[in-house]
Amino acid sequence: MFSSRLQWQLEDNRLTRAVAARRAAGMPVLDLTEANPTRAGFAWEDAVLARALGSAGNGIYDPDPRGKLSAREAVAAYYRERGVTVSPEEIFLTASTSEGYGWLLKLLTDPGINGVLVPAPSYPLLQFLAQLENVNIRPYPLRFVEGRWRVDAAELAAAIDARTKAIFCVAPNNPTGSVLDERDRTVLRDAAQKHGLALLVDEVFLDYGREGNPVVSWAEEKTAPLFVLSGLSKVAVLPQLKLGWIVVAGPEDWRKEAMARLEFVADTYLSVGTPVQLGAEEILAAAEKVRTAIGQRLAANEAAVRDWCAASAHGLELLPREAGWYAVVRLPRGVDEEALAVDLAGRDGVLVHPGYFFDFAPEQGPHLVLSLLAREEEMRTALPPIEEALRRH
Ligand SMILES: Cc1ncc(COP(=O)(O)O)c(C=O)c1O
Repeated sequence: MFSSRLQWQLEDNRLTRAVAARRAAGMPVLDLTEANPTRAGFAWEDAVLARALGSAGNGIYDPDPRGKLSAREAVAAYYRERGVTVSPEEIFLTASTSEGYGWLLKLLTDPGINGVLVPAPSYPLLQFLAQLENVNIRPYPLRFVEGRWRVDAAELAAAIDARTKAIFCVAPNNPTGSVLDERDRTVLRDAAQKHGLALLVDEVFLDYGREGNPVVSWAEEKTAPLFVLSGLSKVAVLPQLKLGWIVVAGPEDWRKEAMARLEFVADTYLSVGTPVQLGAEEILAAAEKVRTAIGQRLAANEAAVRDWCAASAHGLELLPREAGWYAVVRLPRGVDEEALAVDLAGRDGVLVHPGYFFDFAPEQGPHLVLSLLAREEEMRTALPPIEEALRRH
């Protein structure tokens, strides 16, 4: 009866069960996996949203497969402010980044036949997004060498075969916070050109680089076939509005053909609502305030994690974060990261993600991933029990 495109793991895992049991007993949970900004104290004021979403014109349905021009111009302005030239013509609006992945996989792959390469460690949803399109996935590792995460050219090449159609890149990456520098971009660009592949570059965390060190978008690429994915979820901290976008970059002839075909996909769905498109300009223009507030939270929480790691009796290493919302803590070899997380959740009510959740390779050792979006008080309260739990493991 049901499709086998997913493995449909319907049972809760040990960690989810431990948290559910604690919540069922009415006991508190300090959630250091919180990734929903609207639950972490960063909700926009209702009045501001009501004004932005209450445009005259909401009553009229006037669809454009790429999305309303005024909204695409607002997205183009967003890139212009970051020194990147993108034409509104090259922008397709979607309901979310996730939907953008789905459209691009429909554009590029034949279900059941083709495959895509997915970075590891990275955003866990990528494998579901590919599997839901019935596309095979193969990981390519990111390696932490000489203090930064890198794409390994040989391992990337080894993962490519005749059925591969695209390479997913998350830049800045979730959860490692790593960006693609020119060396990594060259590796990816060369592989894409050599094997006729498209690069799908997820830049949702573009605006969360370190102060004074902004991350550079890849949306101006002219050499390799490339799509950039982003959206309001992180750019304006408004996941509930459901507005994402795809920028089609790459060589001009290829770009024209890709856009003509993508227009068919977009025209079939026409999925973005009118109010958010009409409000996009105002929302994007006002989003910096909330991003700044998040940046302050990230910095304060990261400082707390750094202090803890420095003072810890367990030789912890806080890996460098170039951007993004997560802290990655390397644990001493031999610690069972999953057992530690389950113990912490059940006994102390502290919820953290073990590294395997993001596909850290076992040979890279055990890790914990902490969301720096957590409230500062929660973060400070949660760190001593983690230190204590490490004594037991
Ligand atoms: C790397 C990455 N891409 C995309 C998303 C989700 O974006 P959207 O809500 O636009 O689908 C997230 C959310 O956490 C993410 O971490």
